[in-house]
Amino acid sequence: MRLAAVILAAGYGTRMKSKLPKVLHPLAGRALVEWSVEAVEGISHEPPLVVIGHGGEQVKELLGSRVRYAVQEERLGTGHAVLQARGQLQGTADAVLVIYADMPLLQEATLRHFVDVFAENWKQGNLAMAMLTVEREDPQGFGRVVRNQAGEVQAIVEEVDCTPEQRQIRELNSGIYCFDAAWLWANLPNVPLSPKGEYYLTDLAGMAVEQGLRVVAAPAPLEDVYGINTRGHLAVAGEVLRRRIAERHMAAGVTIVDPSATYIDAQVTIGPDTVILPGTLLQGSTQIGEDCVIGPHSQIRDSRIGNGCRVIQSVVEQARMEDGSEIGPFGHLRSGAHLGPGVHMGNFGEVKNSYLGPGTKMGHFSYVGDATIGANVNIGAGVITCNYDGARKHPTVIEDGVFLGSDTMLVAPVRLGQGARTGAGSVVTRDVEPGELVYGVPARPPSSQGEEKSQP
Ligand code: UD1
Ligand code: CA
Repeated sequence: MRLAAVILAAGYGTRMKSKLPKVLHPLAGRALVEWSVEAVEGISHEPPLVVIGHGGEQVKELLGSRVRYAVQEERLGTGHAVLQARGQLQGTADAVLVIYADMPLLQEATLRHFVDVFAENWKQGNLAMAMLTVEREDPQGFGRVVRNQAGEVQAIVEEVDCTPEQRQIRELNSGIYCFDAAWLWANLPNVPLSPKGEYYLTDLAGMAVEQGLRVVAAPAPLEDVYGINTRGHLAVAGEVLRRRIAERHMAAGVTIVDPSATYIDAQVTIGPDTVILPGTLLQGSTQIGEDCVIGPHSQIRDSRIGNGCRVIQSVVEQARMEDGSEIGPFGHLRSGAHLGPGVHMGNFGEVKNSYLGPGTKMGHFSYVGDATIGANVNIGAGVITCNYDGARKHPTVIEDGVFLGSDTMLVAPVRLGQGARTGAGSVVTRDVEPGELVYGVPARPPSSQGEEKSQP
């Protein structure tokens, strides 16, 4: 059975009260619509088709060629939305799966099972559609599944159109369907306009039954079909997604001390025996190795952390830490920071666009920007690379084994040769030879100290 997937994303999302289209609101590292794409991508044989409307251009910018698009110019209901996909999908598949872009908790496994139920019934013949249903104590806003005496599905009745008895029904339409493709495309144009001025996709159930065809209802876990309409819903769904993500990592051997106080995005990878302490955010494409201790209270975004690393109360963004390196408390690695193996960064250090070689130590209060630093360099307390002259950035090169005294200012561009040393408070404005000692302002070797003063 060839399956096409349609994702409805043309709603206004008014209740979000946001400039950002609802389906682009982020949740655990993915936009809402991306969660829906993820859920169907592995099931349908072609890229899913997303029906866009309000904010459609931004959706296209995000998803690019990963999906196909149809535009619903006017918001005339769920039936009308699916109809926009007909031109592209008619004749390409045996069945059409329809889901919403605002149900981020819908899991691939749930959909797979649902499609299997559809396929089994479909083989027996006479089937028009299947729908995922849920039982819920509070049925408010859901279409009710109406059955006859024999227990066969007769129709889906929208809440506004329910009789008082129908309102009591607790078997509810989740809005997820699988249709016989040929039947769908033949009948969808015949859905009548509702008194509300919309074309209801749900009317198809009653139409199928009138034609003597079967409609199957398949129960789903309630949690899966949670729809997002408000920022409150977003927060509730976020909690569930984070729990699922944390459970996946724990099952793979990661210790997460308090999953409810840990925020791990969907794509993050973590090696076994790594411990994640509370208050930690692991975001974007971050990859963390084995045997690390991360946190408490650390934020790591789009970064690569090796094995056996330690990140204490620190912020790491678009950076790389090699095996056995450590940072914190209160360190900041910015874009392009790269700590070699065994590098130690202590309190209040900041590194940007720089490499620190193996074993280098930067214990206290330092800024390193646009620098290439060799192995086993000692960066004394308060050392700063003065890399910006107000107009341009300049590089600093520090070779292996250099010792920088406390509060050394390195006025870039500048190079310090292997084993060079600077005294406390030096302002280094010129290159320093390998093995050479300089100190003072500006920094000079001992032999030329005092020269400046004796000049008129
Ligand atoms: C729909 C179902 C209802 C079901 C409920 C579950 C219909 C008529 N009713 O109601 O039986 O219980 O979902 O959540 O289908 N959309 C478009 N274009 C439109 C209209 C909607 O793309 O013109 C999209 C929305 O972005 C949204 C989804 O379709 O993601 C559902 O639309 P909505 O209007 O919220 O449907 P409900 O009234 O909730
Ligand atoms: Ca200082």
